[in-house]
Amino acid sequence: MTAFRTLDDIEVAGKRVLVRVDLNVPMREGAVGDTTRIDRVAPTLAELAGRGARVIVASHFGRPKGKPVAAMSLGPIAEPLSQALGGLPVRFVPDCLGAEVESAVATLAPGEVALLENLRFHAGEEANDPAFADALAGLADLYVNDAFSAAHRAHASTTAVAERLPNAAGRLMQAELEALGKALQVPERPVIAVVGGAKVSTKLALLANLIERVDRLVIGGAMANTFLHVQGVSVGASLHEPDLTADARRIMGEASGAGCGIVLPTDVVVTREFREGAESATVPVADVPPDGMILDLGPDTCARIEGALAASHTLVWNGPLGAFEIEPFDYATTRCARAAARLTGEGRLLSVAGGGDTVAALQGAGVLGAFSYVSTAGGAFLEWLEGRTLPGVAALETATTP
Ligand code: 3PG
Ligand code: MG
Repeated sequence: MTAFRTLDDIEVAGKRVLVRVDLNVPMREGAVGDTTRIDRVAPTLAELAGRGARVIVASHFGRPKGKPVAAMSLGPIAEPLSQALGGLPVRFVPDCLGAEVESAVATLAPGEVALLENLRFHAGEEANDPAFADALAGLADLYVNDAFSAAHRAHASTTAVAERLPNAAGRLMQAELEALGKALQVPERPVIAVVGGAKVSTKLALLANLIERVDRLVIGGAMANTFLHVQGVSVGASLHEPDLTADARRIMGEASGAGCGIVLPTDVVVTREFREGAESATVPVADVPPDGMILDLGPDTCARIEGALAASHTLVWNGPLGAFEIEPFDYATTRCARAAARLTGEGRLLSVAGGGDTVAALQGAGVLGAFSYVSTAGGAFLEWLEGRTLPGVAALETATTP
């Protein structure tokens, strides 16, 4: 199933290995706010160091637009990365190319790790510039890409470098691709997709791809309001996109042609104010008051979703089902996520989630560790759900053989 090489296929002892990771982590007051991405690449780096590679770690951080920006330095990440590696020292190099970098790399002993400065401090990174890629590739003998979450970017460190060096996927990239492959490429059927979030407009391509691939599609979040509107339901003061009526209607039509059952809300939670603890009521979708805002799905809808999950063997989940960040409107997201987690624990469901707010929503429901696989990717996960070829993945599949 996999057309890419892994760490099992490359001989790394004594070699200089350039590892593209995604250390684009949330920062709060100068400290790492969430170490998930650091923790998830640590096994690849530890394995390479343990096998005697000279490990050169490269990443982007933020969007500095081709110039050094002090607040976007990777310097503060060196220590948390070292901690994730069980205390293995991480030598920070204050640029990613040039004489200083070359000499730092030249003194790196087998088993040692260096972290280069933010790749995006040079315009050549995002421009996928050949000269910039030559300079990066010149630092190493081998290239490992462990940044699935940056694989939707055709940048020098994700594509051009892969074409210049013998390459392989790191363990995190491998795990992401294997999990995603099991979820949509070679899934055990029936497959159910749960898609939430605010807007149909940002997920049109994703919905169009999913209806071709899954047996059931649950639409929740404010984007469901647009679909309800298409069905002639009055959604009151709820967020919806009347401009997308034709698109939503087309998706419904194509879904029925493709044998994909669409699950829409039948009852919803409405309120007049968008705030924590606001007074709310659960009503059938036909009874949304003119000044009512739909902020969550009701219990009947949740029960139908639970039934659909129980009747499925594979789940792909993207996006919250309601305004999960404000209580009590996290009800449907939490209830359905817990149902999926329970079925996963019973061995009845393979559950894969990712993209944007999804991780925070599952974390809120306390089930982050109970899904089969939760992707570290935001935009890359969405583009993958759209059925698009990710340049960083394609480069690994087609480029140089070691
Ligand atoms: C992400 O956080 O989604 C990735 O690190 C990609 O970042 P970007 O959207 O700035 O390319
Ligand atoms: Mg992003």
